[in-house]
Amino acid sequence: MISKSTIDKVYDASRVEEVISDFIQLKKSGSNFKGLSPFSKEKTPSFMVSPAKQIWKDFSSGKGGNSVAFLMEHEQFSYPEAIRFLAKKYNIEIEETYKTEKEKEKLSFLESLYLVVQNAKENFKNNLWERDEGKAIAMTYLRERGFENEVINLFDIGYSLNEKSHFSDQALKKGYSKKYLELIGLSINKDNTYIDRFRSRLMFPIKNFSGRVIGFGGRILNNNLKTAKYINSPESDIYHKSKVLYGLYESKKEIVKKDLCIIVEGYTDVIQMHQSGIKNVVASSGTSLSNDQIRLVQRLTSNIIVLFDGDDAGLNASLRGLVTILKNGMNVRVCQLPHGEDPDSFLKSNSKEKTLDYFNNFSKDFIQFKADILSKKSKNDPVKKSQTIFEIVEIISIIPDQIKQQVYIQNCSKIMDISEDILFNTLAQINSKNLTVKNKKNSYEKDKMRVINKSELTDKIDHVYELEFQIIKILLLYGNKDESFVETILKNHDGEELIEEKVELNVKVFEKIFLDLQQDEIELAQESFRNLFKILIKHYQSGESIDLNNLIKKLPPDLSSIVSDILMKDELYKLHGWNKKNIFIKDKESNVSQLVVETILSLRKYLIDKKINELQVSIENSSENNKEVLSDVISYSQLKKVVSRKLNRVI
Ligand code: CTP
Ligand code: MN
Repeated sequence: MISKSTIDKVYDASRVEEVISDFIQLKKSGSNFKGLSPFSKEKTPSFMVSPAKQIWKDFSSGKGGNSVAFLMEHEQFSYPEAIRFLAKKYNIEIEETYKTEKEKEKLSFLESLYLVVQNAKENFKNNLWERDEGKAIAMTYLRERGFENEVINLFDIGYSLNEKSHFSDQALKKGYSKKYLELIGLSINKDNTYIDRFRSRLMFPIKNFSGRVIGFGGRILNNNLKTAKYINSPESDIYHKSKVLYGLYESKKEIVKKDLCIIVEGYTDVIQMHQSGIKNVVASSGTSLSNDQIRLVQRLTSNIIVLFDGDDAGLNASLRGLVTILKNGMNVRVCQLPHGEDPDSFLKSNSKEKTLDYFNNFSKDFIQFKADILSKKSKNDPVKKSQTIFEIVEIISIIPDQIKQQVYIQNCSKIMDISEDILFNTLAQINSKNLTVKNKKNSYEKDKMRVINKSELTDKIDHVYELEFQIIKILLLYGNKDESFVETILKNHDGEELIEEKVELNVKVFEKIFLDLQQDEIELAQESFRNLFKILIKHYQSGESIDLNNLIKKLPPDLSSIVSDILMKDELYKLHGWNKKNIFIKDKESNVSQLVVETILSLRKYLIDKKINELQVSIENSSENNKEVLSDVISYSQLKKVVSRKLNRVI
């Protein structure tokens, strides 16, 4: 783990405008910078950076936050990756903290494996670019296939020399251990001499999500050789074949931007497509897609196009991959290339635009695709046809979203020319067969829970969410402002009657909010609001009023995004130059104390309502004596009246 003090240093050193301008062209605009949104296609800039507040806001996608949040959105970094990136940029040494000795050992073990592979990558690249054999054979081959320097570099392509142990020898000489060379599968131990696994092959480094090389695919240069066209690194502690996708690291940005991931079969397809400017592409490397691989894509988009080479071999394995995609709730279309073509060859005789047109025009819904294949086999054979239909409905039954299921059924009905009713019946049959008695009960319980959660969720979104957001907004904008509040308190006159009396209270806004919520024991329901609330209150209580911007700069990315949402709203008006056109947005918050009181009372009223509802439900559901609960309901109802009256007074 990265130490807290390193993280602090990184936050202190980084400037949001510097971080972002490494990726986006920014232009000065008043006290801010603006640029074209990297998250959508646009011609007029709606991306704003505020150097004073150290936050950014993208008005076209709604995203925003501090520097770390930007890196996580734009580069798809994890939090530690973003911190590491910034540390490198600002030359800050990373101090690591480890929890246990065991963890430390494990980490340094994995780290050693990464280093061995890193060295191998450098060695293979050096062979390709600097050595005569590499230049003469491998580089020539790449040129013949039309690969240019840019992609050769981007994908770190290399070459392994046609020698028995060239790689192993240099690695051992540099001090890499035999054990690790063997574990990672780059060297093979033959009677205690170490020889190379990869010889005379083009080397494609395989990278993980964060871009570290974890293994290799090696291709022969002469198709006539009677040896496997590709040899791949064996599984190791850092390389798990079913958990990586070739090209994902190089393509992830574009996948997010296009909100689409194209999946192809081969390494060279990915590279050729990149070279042609289609950069949202990964390769399954000739195997059927696994759950883990789909989940990697799911972090970036829920839309997939699967491209099949124009031959029938391998189609069945790929169909299994489709099922995995559907199971994960993703949208998938399928496109088969013309006979004998793969994306690489197709792009050599067609322009980028033609190719994209082809993908668009010839990609099919998976049902259409499967129906086409199967109906070729089952033409005019009613038994086969019904089998085909059953297989399709079986696949539909695994799609998690019921609405999607319906659409697919309707689709299938049209394509296979069979009534929807029959298909829905078949679907119901499959569903009930899939559920054992025990599972049925479980899924029923689950359904019930889901319904309850859903209604609670809409409730939250409607009321509590907005009120809590408002509270955070007030705290951020006016937390330190002195305001006067008029309070009604009950006073005991002459030891007799209770009389309402008005007192004026002069306090800071944050104190009023904090005390009022505490008095009612109200905690904000939304987790990020709750966290932000605590941070802001603590900040104001410590009296560091001047340093709010510094606090914002250091917020966790999700919280910084809320803050950016609130603080950058004004910038939108500046962005469109509305102020220059004399269009002024009415300042609703001119009366801060009223706003504070109104918000808190509304939240209280809502929470009381909710409580009353809960109590009433519990009365309905229980058979016991409800006297106590009833009296609770009555006192809450009285409270509600009081709160409502107050609320009417302020509004
Ligand atoms: N593959 C493999 N082992 C093989 C053959 C193929 O691992 N013996 C994997 C590779 O990841 C390869 C993918 O399957 O990239 C697709 O195979 P293929 O279409 O034969 O290779 P291409 O990548 O298209 O290579 P090329 O265009 O150079 O023939
Ligand atoms: Mn191919």
